[in-house]
Amino acid sequence: MKRRKISIIGAGNVGSACAHWLVARELGDVVLFDIIDGLAQGKALDILEASPIDGCDVSISGSSSYADTAGSDIVIITAGLARKPGMSRADLLEKNCSIVSFVTQRVVKYSPQAFLLVVTNPLYAMTYVVKQISGFPKNRVMGMAGMLDTARMRSFIASELQVSVEDVSAFVLGGHGESMVPLTRYFTVSGIPLTALMSPEKIDAIIERTRNGGAEIVSFLKTGSAFYAPAAAVGKMVEAILKDKKRVLPVAALLEGEYGISQCYLGVPVKLGGEGVEEVIELELLPEELKALNKSCQMIRALIERLKV
Ligand code: NAI
Ligand code: 2OP
Repeated sequence: MKRRKISIIGAGNVGSACAHWLVARELGDVVLFDIIDGLAQGKALDILEASPIDGCDVSISGSSSYADTAGSDIVIITAGLARKPGMSRADLLEKNCSIVSFVTQRVVKYSPQAFLLVVTNPLYAMTYVVKQISGFPKNRVMGMAGMLDTARMRSFIASELQVSVEDVSAFVLGGHGESMVPLTRYFTVSGIPLTALMSPEKIDAIIERTRNGGAEIVSFLKTGSAFYAPAAAVGKMVEAILKDKKRVLPVAALLEGEYGISQCYLGVPVKLGGEGVEEVIELELLPEELKALNKSCQMIRALIERLKV
């Protein structure tokens, strides 16, 4: 059987960590692309040289030519600027919009059938830009953010309760970080509601830490933002698509009437499988949750209005 092809645009921190994650799990042949001459080639060669140790029989190559991404099944877009201390994700808007627009035009020319998975911030606005420029159907254009926010929350809950991360479930809707909408009543530990195991104050503190989770890492790193957890989150989304797992995950998906919202990318529960975003799962929301979701949507729309797309 022919191996699947995954291209990653942007061989920086997130792109290269994604490449390593995907190769280590043999999910497909990987092309790592960057405009900086030699960066993608050097990192790809390094990952290739790790493959005998990991026992991975997929190929990885680095490139600065879009022709090498041709025929990709999935293209992951990480190209763009990352936050530095004192910057919000929205501060990246105009510059990253022009990078992402340029990248998308080239990517779709060579991979017209690909799924496009966006990582570049500000995530929801950038995913909308990729959808507009690509003209691809909505099931093939999505973004990653909720996976990262829920992973952060799950890791904090597991540490606090001293239980396995595997047993902790959490779910968020809406925007990324500050504008996420946590659905606390669906947080569980092996099916036990978290509210039975942790005080409301502690849960609130964990939610607050998660809202600022990206900034917490930026304040340590100083020169950039998180990449290991983001890469793992992207990897799991790629796996869900390539293995047609039909996982139910928080994904940035285009809403067309779901939750009473139209023409906006928002984090919602999605069935993610071989057809990409196969279904947006609509939950009955409490009035305050719906209000918070609408507020997230307004914030995202305000960013998009600043752009000419
Ligand atoms: P980075 O600075 O390490 O890497 C970005 C790479 O993009 C650089 O190597 C740069 O040369 C490349 N690039 C710039 N313009 C390009 C172009 N026109 N074509 C191809 N490559 C180009 O940044 P990092 O940490 O990898 O983050 C990438 C983006 O992902 C940032 O916008 C960051 O905010 C975002 N991000 C989003 C997350 C999410 O949850 N959605 C999580 C982590 C990062
Ligand atoms: C984060 O939350 C940078 O959006 C990225 O770490």
